Amino acid sequence: MFDLGGKRALVTGSSRGIGREIALSLARQGADVCIHYLGDRNEAEAVVTLIHAAGRSACVAEGDLTDTDAPRSIVAAAVQGLGAPIDILVVNAALQVPQSLADIDPESARRQFDANLMGTVGLIQNVVPDMKQAGSGRIIHIGSVQQWRPHPDMTIYAALKSGIENMMRNFAVQLAPHGITVNTVSPGVIETERNRRTLTDPAYRARVRERIPIGRIGKPEDCAGVVAMLCSISGDYITGANIPVDGGMSLD
Ligand SMILES: NC(=O)c1ccc[n+]([C@@H]2O[C@H](COP(=O)([O-])OP(=O)(O)OC[C@H]3O[C@@H](n4cnc5c(N)ncnc54)[C@H](OP(=O)(O)O)[C@@H]3O)[C@@H](O)[C@H]2O)c1
Repeated sequence: MFDLGGKRALVTGSSRGIGREIALSLARQGADVCIHYLGDRNEAEAVVTLIHAAGRSACVAEGDLTDTDAPRSIVAAAVQGLGAPIDILVVNAALQVPQSLADIDPESARRQFDANLMGTVGLIQNVVPDMKQAGSGRIIHIGSVQQWRPHPDMTIYAALKSGIENMMRNFAVQLAPHGITVNTVSPGVIETERNRRTLTDPAYRARVRERIPIGRIGKPEDCAGVVAMLCSISGDYITGANIPVDGGMSLD
């Protein structure tokens, strides 16, 4: 039911963390995948090697999403590496600058806006024409539990996650007539590079765990299955949804 054979996917920020597990999971279901990265080409190439070992095609695309031209060049690299159309776009990369009220500065706020919100718009604008021509497509944004429970140190990041989720529902309506579904998958606390250092503090880790009804911190793999489902035929009638993958944290 989750067969993705013959599909081409672009997953941003997929050299590590949640994006890496999503990319590997899509490849395991049969998709060819473009690995987008910003920092470390070797990490991205390592994911490509794993995908090749699984018998699928893969390529890399570099790009800083704070640059206005990056969405275009990232999608162009994906098309060059895999061919057209890109059937699946997973917008996973996100810039997070910890800032509470007193710390917010326009420059950091603007960089997060450019990378996260305008980067998402640009990526979608660049994949949609081919998806429309094909009459089908899947677009997934990786949101956050912070839409429901904003962390006081992440004001702008959390506000942008909420704004993008709203925008995805808007795009879902605009693109449904073209056979393109648009959804949000919203992780809770998932242990990755981003939070590994803070989570090594046992007292902090225990406090975080107490806020998660399922009683454990998430793993990147926890987020991958639902994305594969949404990208498959099983997701055909699901659009404009926002699916938490958070052990119940958003309920608290
Ligand atoms: N981990 C969590 O607890 C958690 C919770 C809720 C939501 N999320 C969301 O899940 C997604 C993945 O998170 P993660 O924890 O796996 O994060 P991560 O390990 O910090 O990875 C973030 C990714 O975003 C990329 N990135 C950052 N700034 C960028 C920019 N300016 N241009 C292009 N790419 C950029 C990074 O690329 P490089 O590695 O190449 O630098 C990296 O691949 C994000 O959207 C995040 O907001 C995570």
